[in-house]
Amino acid sequence: MANPQDGNPSLPHPRRPRRLRRGAVLRDAVTDVVLRPSDLVLPLFVRAGQDVRTPVPSMPDVHQMSPDVAVRTIVDLSAAGVTSFILFSVIDAADKDAHGSAAMDPDNPANVTLKRVRDAGVEAMMIADLCFCEFTDHGHCGALDADARLTVDNDATLDMLGRQAVVLGECGADVVAPSGMMDGQVRAIRAALDQAGHDHTAILSYSIKYASAMYGPFRDAADGAPQFGDRRGYQMDWRRSREWHTELQLDLAEGADMVMVKPAVAYLDVLRQVREATDVPVVAYHVSGEYSMIHAAAANGWIDLEASAVEITTAIKRAGADLIFSYFTPRMLDWL
Ligand code: PBG
Ligand code: ZN
Repeated sequence: MANPQDGNPSLPHPRRPRRLRRGAVLRDAVTDVVLRPSDLVLPLFVRAGQDVRTPVPSMPDVHQMSPDVAVRTIVDLSAAGVTSFILFSVIDAADKDAHGSAAMDPDNPANVTLKRVRDAGVEAMMIADLCFCEFTDHGHCGALDADARLTVDNDATLDMLGRQAVVLGECGADVVAPSGMMDGQVRAIRAALDQAGHDHTAILSYSIKYASAMYGPFRDAADGAPQFGDRRGYQMDWRRSREWHTELQLDLAEGADMVMVKPAVAYLDVLRQVREATDVPVVAYHVSGEYSMIHAAAANGWIDLEASAVEITTAIKRAGADLIFSYFTPRMLDWL
């Protein structure tokens, strides 16, 4: 990378970076980070019913959909170039309980959608979220622990995760994505999947997930807000700069096929280091709060929506993401 002219203004022909900025054709020719629709994964929120398409107030352009609408959306967007989707169930309050039993129901909204997408022969990569906060009446990511400081009972939740993973595999998920930050979750899920004959179901672990303030709009969309306390007893503390390494090593050793850093934009430093520390695919989640901030500023006329969304999403790719979970995915089909 060293150039003999660098830093030597006494040479007769110093480099002038602006030479390569003269016009769109030259600029495009020297570009090395190009965002494509196939870099993106669209999150979908599926709830029971028929013909339901309810806007999420804190997330412009995002809707809760019934399975029929979700399947149509997936079929149409796959034809238009979106290659990957992640499904979250939204559960009626009456169907929630302390152990999140609806998560094991092969007929819950996300699972019905998965089965119908498979029956329709759609070739998209279908990822299923694997957690309990959308299914428990207390809104935490597993069974409660007697120790209030831990909030969630780690090992009791591992069993539950293994069982939910097998149901997701049976419903046709290509990938399961555990997002609960339980220690040992990848090992437990891998063992359960293999034992049930789902050795081809991949695990995308939310390996490096911080206890962020930026999940607020998602918790509206998925109706999964904790009913008391917070998630700091299990999600990571963003004041620690090196702990990502521990989480990464454990998940790789336990058999994670892909790893995630979440949120994305405020954690690009971590994302870059994870990219350099492993050769498995690295995924970044451009989370709901990060999405809604851009929309809110644009709605006020303070920034341009399209330009800001494309710049920020490209920055996530430049930092090292192979795949980006993004609520902007459908709009990107027009913007890229
Ligand atoms: C739940 C889950 C959350 C998100 C994805 N899965 C919320 C949380 O951990 O509280 C956040 C995604 C987003 O904000 O877009 N395990
Ligand atoms: Zn959760």
